Amino acid sequence: MKKDSSFSEKKELKKATLILDKDFSIARVDERLYGSFIEQLGRAVYGGIYDPGNPRSDENGFRQDVIELVKKLNVPIVRYPGGNFVSGFNWEDSIGPREHRPTRLDLAWSTTETNQFGLHEFCAWSEKVGSKVMYAVNLGTRGMEAARNVVEYANHSGGSYWSDLRRKNGSEKPLGIKLWCLGNEMDGPWQIGQKTAYEYGRCANEAAKAMKWVDPSIEVVSCGSSAYDMPSFGAWELEMLDQCYENVDYVSLHRYYSNAANDTQNFLAKNMDMEAFIKTVVSLCDAAGGKKHSKKKLNLSFDEWNVWYHSQEQDKQIIKQNRWGQSLHLLEDVYNFEDALLVGGMLITLLRNSDRVKIACLAQLVNVIAPIMTSGNGCWAQTIYWPFLHASQYGRGMALRPVINSPLYNCTDFEDVPMLDATAVLGDEGSLTVFAVNRSIQNDIELTCDLRAFQSLKFKEHILLHHDDAKAINTEEAPNTVVPVVRQDCESQDGYFKVHIPALSWNVLKFSVGRSQT
Ligand code: AHR
Repeated sequence: MKKDSSFSEKKELKKATLILDKDFSIARVDERLYGSFIEQLGRAVYGGIYDPGNPRSDENGFRQDVIELVKKLNVPIVRYPGGNFVSGFNWEDSIGPREHRPTRLDLAWSTTETNQFGLHEFCAWSEKVGSKVMYAVNLGTRGMEAARNVVEYANHSGGSYWSDLRRKNGSEKPLGIKLWCLGNEMDGPWQIGQKTAYEYGRCANEAAKAMKWVDPSIEVVSCGSSAYDMPSFGAWELEMLDQCYENVDYVSLHRYYSNAANDTQNFLAKNMDMEAFIKTVVSLCDAAGGKKHSKKKLNLSFDEWNVWYHSQEQDKQIIKQNRWGQSLHLLEDVYNFEDALLVGGMLITLLRNSDRVKIACLAQLVNVIAPIMTSGNGCWAQTIYWPFLHASQYGRGMALRPVINSPLYNCTDFEDVPMLDATAVLGDEGSLTVFAVNRSIQNDIELTCDLRAFQSLKFKEHILLHHDDAKAINTEEAPNTVVPVVRQDCESQDGYFKVHIPALSWNVLKFSVGRSQT
């Protein structure tokens, strides 16, 4: 491979190749890889998905325009109700007649929670958007008692205190929540009720046991380190899993990236850090299992991932001026075009590791570090909406590992960064989709896909997300500044397909069954 570390050099057309075979399989993509997250925070719920009185809302107060945008993303699971919020939350506050629900201080975000939107409302909303609920229990201020009760409330058919209360509250049928998070980021000093790895591991183990005794069909996710760069990373996973390995099903990972340094080339390589993070957590899980001579293999739940930094200064001011406020404009990152490219890169990384990453949640979904933004008058898609939509739409089936030959570059934090980052998914009906990011700020790439092994594939279309300005954004006034276009720009011959990949671009190359015309 040729190394190219000179971005000040003149613009030139680079060449890359990608070879694929249907036998280069990684794993079947678990559809939950395209999950997302709604926290009781800022305007995610109030003024986001729930806006009673707004003419765009239905009889439940659910914003219909938001539902339409969410549905297009085809999100199979949504994590709820936190996040940091969950570590001080009493789930019982969020059920029953609204007028009896208490208003509480939320210490995680220094705001006030009225509980007017709660468990039943979230389940009803999830059904409307075609998602399943991934519900987090509070292992910060609470523990196994509250955790097993909410499982009984949600999943037991009837004839017990909590299940009969659910029926009384209007849900004769169980809510059927199959995926549960055992707390949130319990290693972090910012967490209400932070624990040591030993304390958390014991607590998670006992909670998981009791929850599964109530409903053996559920799966549970234990908290891994809240970030790769936590000082206790690694030691946390090993100690925590030493306590709960046999009773949990997944370990969580969280990661957010920033371009505060305004170094685009470095920023776009950051999914290499995500890749290393995943590989290390896989090793830690296997080491923990190995030590126990366990036959069980733990998989990963990357249940918070995104770009997050644009709103951080603004948030400090908002909290300073509106401590204990409600529906504040918190964590409202306005995403630019380069953010969409890194989100595309992160999706490629998740697919590349889909043999062990079975669940992932883009954090979050509406208003709070989100692909969808709302105002009182409507809603719009941020730049990051598009790569997520494409991956969710076309990235289902068998993940394949391409052999890629790309020019490389070096940047502040990474060496040998491939200019072209790509992966592929073989759909069940034989269609093939290649997802590719050109990380170069100035060099277009002529990409040759060697698909001879597939014999009868024809090029269908090239979906391209590109903007000349890496900082371009979508706004309420100009929602279509950064949107994908469809191109028919492929030359094909004898199973080789040549496509032009512009500098700084997200690309979806779609091939379908049938012979090319050439
Ligand atoms: O998604 C925003 C916050 O980021 C979550 O509440 C927390 O889990 C993480 O630190």
